[in-house]
Amino acid sequence: MAGHLAQSLSFSCSVQQWDSDEPIPQSELLAGVAGKDGVLCLLSDRIDKEVLDAAGPTLKVISTLSVGYDHLAISEIKERGIRVGYTPDILTDATAELTVALLLATSRRLPESVEEVKNGGWTTWKPLWMCGYGLSGSTVGIIGLGRIGQAVARRLKPFGVNKFLYTGRHPRPEGAAEFKAEFVPLAKLAEESDFVIVTCSLTPDTQGMCSREFFCKMKKTSVFINTSRGTVVNQDDLYEALVKGHIAAAGLDVTTPEPLPVDHPLLSLKNCVILPHIGSATYATRNAMSALAANNLLAGLKGESMPSELKL
Ligand code: GLV
Repeated sequence: MAGHLAQSLSFSCSVQQWDSDEPIPQSELLAGVAGKDGVLCLLSDRIDKEVLDAAGPTLKVISTLSVGYDHLAISEIKERGIRVGYTPDILTDATAELTVALLLATSRRLPESVEEVKNGGWTTWKPLWMCGYGLSGSTVGIIGLGRIGQAVARRLKPFGVNKFLYTGRHPRPEGAAEFKAEFVPLAKLAEESDFVIVTCSLTPDTQGMCSREFFCKMKKTSVFINTSRGTVVNQDDLYEALVKGHIAAAGLDVTTPEPLPVDHPLLSLKNCVILPHIGSATYATRNAMSALAANNLLAGLKGESMPSELKL
């Protein structure tokens, strides 16, 4: 479902739909948006100045089927007085669940272990074979203690985590209280965490934030998890950290680019688990996101308040 283009009439609207799971070609998008009142897009559709110019002055509302909006040229959109709908909250539980699954799969080496069963590497029970790292008694550092970061902490707490650290633009005492999480600078979070989990949004401040300097500060036994956006991480630096043993392992649900080319060096590493951006991928969540995105679009077209409007 991509590139749904709506033209409002008095009480109904006509819909022009790119009816494929494959990305809409840029030429089709540019031609399709011309003169439309609303656009429903996916996080893989880049709505930049070129697309906004092609849409022209009729465009009143953009509704994205995502909580992230780094694919939208927000300052251009704001300047043109276009409203934006998005899908926060309803995907928080599914994304937190996937983050925990990825953390456990990475720290307890599940993909590698499954592979050993299939390829005959499982010869007998060996005391240190396939050992990893556990959450019990650990320190967990969360970069971005927003809705998803808090939902991750809530799920990890019962595993016996000893201490939560977090960092971000500013302290969030209300969100942090439930976990007695301590607000710390990024460097301290890197130095003290056994597990680092990235759940912040992608902004100019967070782009490339997890770089060589950051990974070198992490413990050699620590595990790095990213379920936010790929470009928060410098992937070349992450590769080096994994190969040189600066960190133990990484689990990524997001990469740069997406999809990651199958010959990408990160895919050759046993201590790197990569998923295809499936944080919110439960049937119930994706259905709820679709309904919310459609309702945001319709409300925007009618000039009414949207169920979830992004404050620009
Ligand atoms: C997923 O990454 C989203 O932004 O919804």
